[in-house]
Amino acid sequence: METLRYFLFDICGIAAGWKMEDVMEEEIEVIKGTVGPEDHVICALSGGVDSTVAATLVHKAIGDRLHCVFVDNGLLRYKERERVMETFERDLHLPVTCVDAIEQFLSKLKGVEEPEMKRKIIGKEFICIFDAFAHDLEQKLGRKPAYLVQGTLYPDVIESCPPPGTGRTHSHTIKSHHNVGGLPKDMKLKLIEPLKLLFKDEVRQLGKILNVPEGFLKRHPFPGPGLAVRVLGDVTKNNALDILREVDEIFIQSIKDAGLYDRIWQAFAVFLPVRSVGVQGDQRTHSHVVALRAVTSQDGMTADWYYFEHKFLDDVARKICNSVRGVNRVVQDITSKPPSTIEWE
Ligand code: XMP
Repeated sequence: METLRYFLFDICGIAAGWKMEDVMEEEIEVIKGTVGPEDHVICALSGGVDSTVAATLVHKAIGDRLHCVFVDNGLLRYKERERVMETFERDLHLPVTCVDAIEQFLSKLKGVEEPEMKRKIIGKEFICIFDAFAHDLEQKLGRKPAYLVQGTLYPDVIESCPPPGTGRTHSHTIKSHHNVGGLPKDMKLKLIEPLKLLFKDEVRQLGKILNVPEGFLKRHPFPGPGLAVRVLGDVTKNNALDILREVDEIFIQSIKDAGLYDRIWQAFAVFLPVRSVGVQGDQRTHSHVVALRAVTSQDGMTADWYYFEHKFLDDVARKICNSVRGVNRVVQDITSKPPSTIEWE
């Protein structure tokens, strides 16, 4: 680092005048210069930091010619739809259509246990909904939307670069297992990727300037296929999604209350497809088992499990068993990545 600093500042004489405000202004000018005055732009919001910051920036540049869609696929966390829609509408004034597709997703997922199959079904449904959204918009506007906003970051660009010497130019393919919000190939929308030269921490800085609430910018990552990768087996069985939402909320709220949320890369609960025997009150129970997972990480590529104090774990486990009907056992995942992945699938 010192050598680089010496080379840039002392040898080359470059000044360190780089400010996030300038990046924002430059990007706004680029967007204004790219999108024609009659053109319309669409954006799929996931509720995550990247798509939200990208959409907010584009909205600042072209106003309500941006049309966002947020899909409730029935695999969201506790009150997620209400929470993110409130941020989009009340704090950011983004024009967002919320599509209730709970039935559409869950009916297709009924009986499906195999993780890869679940991902494929979810990916396909997202594409159908996105297609329908673009089509409805075309009917309403009398013209096809021309551009699509994506929250691609610089690490995505690096990972998508073809190997040197292949003769291929840069491709926009994002890691295949992370692209469930992907698009139909024949949609022919041109891409706007205003964050493609930024790292995650810089996106958070930009979001701050754009008045995205701080709590939102610090949210833990959430996978595109949602709770489907956190309910092992059939997501429609045993009231698994509702149970998981309640357990997850207790765990996350306890982490926040203990002031630990920002120290952890990702924390969540997992619903296991087994039952165990327990005793609650004077009754024998045969109920569900949930696992708690919390990890620290730099980029999600490797991760260490987070070491909670015993008192914290004890309180959380009691609270879960006392307040979530159908759960009589809580376990903690104490594996790092590798050998485990962060999600359980
Ligand atoms: P794994 O489980 O592969 O996860 O160790 C690494 C990081 O990626 C997230 N993840 C996903 N994100 N779609 C996403 O948008 C996905 O299908 C997906 N699978 C895993 C995971 O939450 C973690 O942050």
